[in-house]
Amino acid sequence: MSLSGTAANSRSTVFTPRIEELFRKYRGADVFRLEPDTVGVAGPALIDEVLRSRPANDFERPTFKPLQGKTISRPESSAVMRAVSQDVRAALNKPTTDPVDLAGEWPHTGHVYLRDLVFGPDPFRLRVLMDRRLEWTPKLTWTVIGAGAALPGGPGPDAPVSHLAALAAAATTYGDRRHAMGLYRRAAAPVCFTVSALVANALWLGSPFPADVPNRHILLESLRLLPPSWNLLRVASPEFAALDDRIGATDDVLMLPLLSHRDPGIWDDPDAFRPDRWSGVDADNQPGYLPFGHANERCWGRHMVMPLAERLLDLLREADLAVSPAQRTAHVPLAGLLGVSRIQVTRR
Ligand code: HEM
Repeated sequence: MSLSGTAANSRSTVFTPRIEELFRKYRGADVFRLEPDTVGVAGPALIDEVLRSRPANDFERPTFKPLQGKTISRPESSAVMRAVSQDVRAALNKPTTDPVDLAGEWPHTGHVYLRDLVFGPDPFRLRVLMDRRLEWTPKLTWTVIGAGAALPGGPGPDAPVSHLAALAAAATTYGDRRHAMGLYRRAAAPVCFTVSALVANALWLGSPFPADVPNRHILLESLRLLPPSWNLLRVASPEFAALDDRIGATDDVLMLPLLSHRDPGIWDDPDAFRPDRWSGVDADNQPGYLPFGHANERCWGRHMVMPLAERLLDLLREADLAVSPAQRTAHVPLAGLLGVSRIQVTRR
């Protein structure tokens, strides 16, 4: 079902000028030069070839890139992901009978809800690592981590903390505690930041949603139009130059799902929010659609993201919450995570 003619249609999304410029100049283009040493790629076939040609290196991995110069091993990253998955599963198994008010400013309201739902019992020194203000600067994050790691004591072995916090609590020296807290932040923060951003984007793009539109389609379509992970960077490699002669041997390559997701050569009515376009479509095998990265090394968190976002949408829809009719404009700032800011969500 198309949402044309609904309240959502009269909203205007204002992108930061740099992103607006990307749409204006390069939408529908395959390869283009962005900087003297950086080539942009938005053509679905070439994105696929670049991402297939070699695995991401340590520094290109968003979650488990080295922490303060220390490489994070595969077993360590797997253990962290196992812990956070258990925590998310436990949170999703909690009954939804307790009253919860999700009206207010988004994505902040969603962030706080998720933090309390998944990591509620964790000690303050860890919970503070999910504070939205720490987005501003890594220096501030490390100051908070350093202060927390220096505090004596910690939860005992039987304390009812999250599995992720229990991993962090196992560290004994100051250095290990800093590392463990850094890892906690790396895994816990995206659960709150990315999922609340995704749901805020969905609310902005389409709420109030007609009752017969499935949450899954709403999310797939929101991930298309406002992909939180809107670019994927790969540093210069001989493999890339061999793929296309417009890519030089020393060029970094910035893949832009932001653009391939709105390529008029792939999508009908590319700027329209039409969740119905996903019925009967396999989102994992849709050319040019890679909100969770390439098939070869897709996001390890996506199996948590989708059910958490669906839970939030269920609660919002059951409570008849939608973007306030008074709000007509939302801004999308230039940030690592693409999303609308300051959305006012009210009861209809
Ligand atoms: C809306 C939510 C999310 C989106 C859109 C997203 C998107 C992505 C994308 C595009 C990649 C591939 C990056 C590349 O190839 O350069 C990726 C990888 C990854 N994501 Fe996610 N992600 C989300 C949430 C999460 C969460 C909540 C976690 C963990 C708690 C997570 C953990 C990972 C990990 C471990 C990888 C593999 C690479 C690495 O080691 O960092 N993601 N994600």
